[in-house]
Amino acid sequence: MKQFISVKDVSNVNDLVHKALAYKQQPYSDKTLGANMRIGLLFLNPSLRTRLSTQIAAQNLGMEPIVFNVDKEGWALEFNEQAIMNGTTVEHIKDAAPVLGHYFDILCIRTFPGLVNSSEDYSEKIIHQFIKYTGIPVVSLESATLHPLQSLTDIITITETIATQKILKKPKVVLTWAPHIKSIPQCVANSFSEWVNAWGEADFVITHPEGYELDEKFTQGATITHNQNDALMGADFVYVKNWSAYHDYGKVLSTDASWMLNNEKLAITHQAKVMHCLPVRRNVELSSEVLDSAYSIVTKQASNRVWAAQAVLSEILKGLK
Ligand code: CP
Repeated sequence: MKQFISVKDVSNVNDLVHKALAYKQQPYSDKTLGANMRIGLLFLNPSLRTRLSTQIAAQNLGMEPIVFNVDKEGWALEFNEQAIMNGTTVEHIKDAAPVLGHYFDILCIRTFPGLVNSSEDYSEKIIHQFIKYTGIPVVSLESATLHPLQSLTDIITITETIATQKILKKPKVVLTWAPHIKSIPQCVANSFSEWVNAWGEADFVITHPEGYELDEKFTQGATITHNQNDALMGADFVYVKNWSAYHDYGKVLSTDASWMLNNEKLAITHQAKVMHCLPVRRNVELSSEVLDSAYSIVTKQASNRVWAAQAVLSEILKGLK
């Protein structure tokens, strides 16, 4: 594997999932694979799970991780090719990225969308400039439109739960929009849709209020409905997530509390396991009664972030040998 930006960088989703589950059983089975190699984790935005799980994964493979909070500690970066830098930015990506390419063997980057200009965000300008100018493998820790390490984790968690719960039929997986007070990126929803479709082993339904249609290039293959109750009927997994509007870009069009998953709605499902990438706003996005119930697998999901990252880093390290 040369980079990890989306599911398109993965030749076989199931192979990667099973590699991750094998690391879960034996975390140190490749403890020298990354010996004498350094991995940079650059954050242009906050993180708890991605930051810590990727560091642990790198250490399990013998790598030295170095975290750099660019947004708080670094020079303000410029990404416009022909910029006349007489404003607030101090260092051009063309100058900074090659330096990082010399310090590290693998570079991981988290960046968020501005949620103002959809073509700028959906061009993935920032992560593509890091790829272009570092000259080393780049791993997305979440970009403007996608969160592939989260989505790999989600497929790992569904696969693991299918085995432990002995679900014999093709599972029904529902992605449901949930209310939120802020404008939230579409990354997790886009990425989950893209990965479930590429995986191809679920009946996949997406439900959201009118106006919250995602970019079709990610959702093609899914059944899409505005009727949440219809969607939830018989579901084995319910993935709860807010996202802001894609077409009316970045707008919060609804905060309708009736879309929040509670016990009454969960009763429509087939005793569904409930997923969320975290962080979650309790009793806004997802009810405490569900989060605190045995149906919630959000902690297992978050803990699986380590094994997803370890499987990806291991594939990239093997490509460097
Ligand atoms: N799910 C996720 O990416 O969590 P963090 O933002 O805490 O990394």
